[in-house]
Formats: sequence, C-alpha cells, structure tokens
Amino acid sequence: MRRIVVWISALVMVISGILFTASAQDTPSPEEQAATAIDQRKSLFKTLRYNLAPIAGMAQGAPFNAQVAERNARRIAVMATMIPEMLAVNTAAFDNIETTALDIIWDNQDDIAVKAQALIDNANAFAEAATTGDMGATLGAFRAFGGSCGNCHDAYRVDTD
Ligand code: HEC
Repeated sequence: MRRIVVWISALVMVISGILFTASAQDTPSPEEQAATAIDQRKSLFKTLRYNLAPIAGMAQGAPFNAQVAERNARRIAVMATMIPEMLAVNTAAFDNIETTALDIIWDNQDDIAVKAQALIDNANAFAEAATTGDMGATLGAFRAFGGSCGNCHDAYRVDTD
C-alpha cells in the first residue's frame, strides 16, 4: 500500500514537472503572437475567397448553380462573424511580418465591426435570393455581396490591385 502511494506521488511530480516545463516553453513572444495573428487572419480571408470564387465565376458567365451559390454565401456569412476578432490583435509594431493590413485598423474597430456586419447581411441576402433558384435575382444580389469585401479592403488594406 505504502509503495503504491509513493509511486503515485512520484508520478504526480513527474506530470506536474512536464506541465510546468511545457507552459514555460509555450508562452509565445509578442512577435510570435503577432505572426500567429497575421497567419490566422490571412487564412480566414483566403477561405472567404475560396468560397466567393465560384460565385464570382457565375457572375462572370460560368454555369449558374443555385445550391453552390447559396451554400458558399452561407459559409461566408458564418465565417465573416470572425472578422472583428481576427482584426483585433494590433500587429502594427511588427512591420517585418508581411501583411497588407493598414495600421488604422486598430483605431477603427467599431467600423471594422460595421463592415463585417455588412458582409454578413449581404451574404445572407444573396443566399436567400439563391433559394429561389432564380439566376437573375441571385446574381442581382451579387454586387452588394462582393462589394462588401471591396469596401473594407479600400479602407483598411494596402491597395494591391
Ligand atoms: C472588415 C474588413 C474586411 C472584409 C469585410 C473583408 N476583408 Fe479581406 N482583408 C481585410 C484585411 C485587413 C486584409 C489584410 C490582411 C493581412 O494582410 O494581414 C484582407 C486580406 C484579404 C486577402 C489576402 C489574404 C492574404 O493571404 O494575404 C483576401 C484573399 C481577402 N482579404 C479576401 C476577402 C474576401 C473574398 C472578402 C469578402 C467575402 C473579404 N476579404 C472581406 C479586410 C477585410
């Protein structure tokens, strides 16, 4: 019995030692945190583009597919709820990390939330239009939807076009 107790307490000490070392090593530096934040926000935006691309293609004459249009617009509406969070980490001090985000973002968080919400609303309106299966009505809602991406880029992103 005593032997078991000794073993268990030794095991507990080893485990807490591992946890302690891991937490000491895992605290990322401010630069690492900024790099992670930039990586994460770019990943979100790339995934938004992945979903918008087939819809933009339909608007440019590719065969219309109402199901794909609705599904991708709904995905974008959900993912866009993450935009304000993804643009909340101020990375202005780390201009050695590649980013096209303008530093004014961190003084305009309210407006970022407004622009993200505009995208959510327009994506949902587009998805609703797509449920009718009507190509004209659906693609008619595309200008506002796609425009919500550009509205934010015009204000808060280095002009890359
Ligand atoms: C509320 C603001 C906002 C909205 C809305 C927005 N973006 Fe962006 N987007 C940004 C910012 C800021 C960056 C720059 C990120 C960086 O480089 O750190 C960016 C970057 C990007 C990038 C480049 C990512 C990379 O790898 O460098 C793509 C692609 C993109 N956005 C697509 C979209 C699409 C598609 C939409 C609409 C469905 C959209 N964005 C809506 C603010 C926005």
